[in-house]
Amino acid sequence: MFAERLRQRLLMQRQAGLHRNPPEATARDGKYLFFGNRKVLNFSSNDYLGLGASPKLREKVAANFRRYGTSSSSSRLVSGHYALISRAEEAYARHFGYDEALFFPSGYQANLGVISALFAQGDTVIFDKHIHASSVKGMALSKAEFLGYRHNSMSHLRKRLEARKDDQAGVVTESLFSMDGDFLDVEGIRKLKREHGFLCIVDEAHAFGALGENGRGIARTVADVAVGTFGKALGLFGAFALLPAGYKEYLFNFCSPLIYSTTLPEAHAASALDLLEILGDSDAERDSLRRISVLMREALRGEGFHVGGDAHIIVVEIGDEARAAAVSRGLFEGGVFVFPARYPTVPMGRAILRIGMTARHREQDVSFFVDALKGVYARTQPESR
Ligand SMILES: Cc1ncc(COP(=O)(O)O)c(C=O)c1O
Repeated sequence: MFAERLRQRLLMQRQAGLHRNPPEATARDGKYLFFGNRKVLNFSSNDYLGLGASPKLREKVAANFRRYGTSSSSSRLVSGHYALISRAEEAYARHFGYDEALFFPSGYQANLGVISALFAQGDTVIFDKHIHASSVKGMALSKAEFLGYRHNSMSHLRKRLEARKDDQAGVVTESLFSMDGDFLDVEGIRKLKREHGFLCIVDEAHAFGALGENGRGIARTVADVAVGTFGKALGLFGAFALLPAGYKEYLFNFCSPLIYSTTLPEAHAASALDLLEILGDSDAERDSLRRISVLMREALRGEGFHVGGDAHIIVVEIGDEARAAAVSRGLFEGGVFVFPARYPTVPMGRAILRIGMTARHREQDVSFFVDALKGVYARTQPESR
């Protein structure tokens, strides 16, 4: 019975052009991915500063694992609570300008854990409709009432705030939106926060490391709580929540994904400390990233594509799900790897190519991409499945 249901759902997924079957990469070399003998230029990575494929970070992380071992072997609440992890968390809180920090095994767990633990039945949580799935899951688990506002619409958020029944509201948003590539309206949020007072949670997963002075992101002036991940610009794995004073003790006691999961090992904390030094030293990479992203946006617009994105996440609107998948396949055959984001990642009928620029990309890579896209786009039709 279950097998038949799974088969049916997969069939419907295929028929809707939504089926996912990612190709298996066999190796990675800087900005290139290898699929057997096929070498493709990667525009689907969140390795914004190029650290994830850097020999320097690899050496440091390898040395940390040699020194500290491979596993914490327990949850933070049992025997996994190492001094080195606390020290690294303090350093992260200081670097990003918050009172406290708490590491999580992933950004998904951090969002889900923090949001579900902070809010409760009777609270109202108001969220930008384009936030990440992990934050949505967190709100659902919290049992608070949660109400969406139109993406980045401060007037809609204002309406939601005016209509709330209690004074315990939270607002959940992102600073650089993962699937739109646009910035949060920080000034707009600041104004509403002054007028209405709410707890503001900002997911800076795509901004930390890549944007702001020393990679501090763009939302410190409005965020009470921020979430960052090590898995994107920081080139590692795991995540961190940045918190006001007293929240860490609370989360140690009430955050289920933290309490019931093996904590990241000391080697991770030592690598996180190394990363803070690297981040302070990465102005050149942040600058290259900014310049190459502008170049890509302008080149695509120059060819008539509908393009969105304020920084290193660039979105090319395709619309039809099957066409987006066909364009991505065609690009792959032409030596370019780019992700077609489709429903439910983005709204139905609004499929996109999501381009992740990195500091490793060069001008000739942009030309290669744009030429390849022009050719493939012209060859695919909206109904091609
Ligand atoms: C906005 C956003 N938040 C959180 C996450 C989850 O982070 P992680 O990959 O560390 O689980 C992602 C992506 O993966 C993301 O895009």
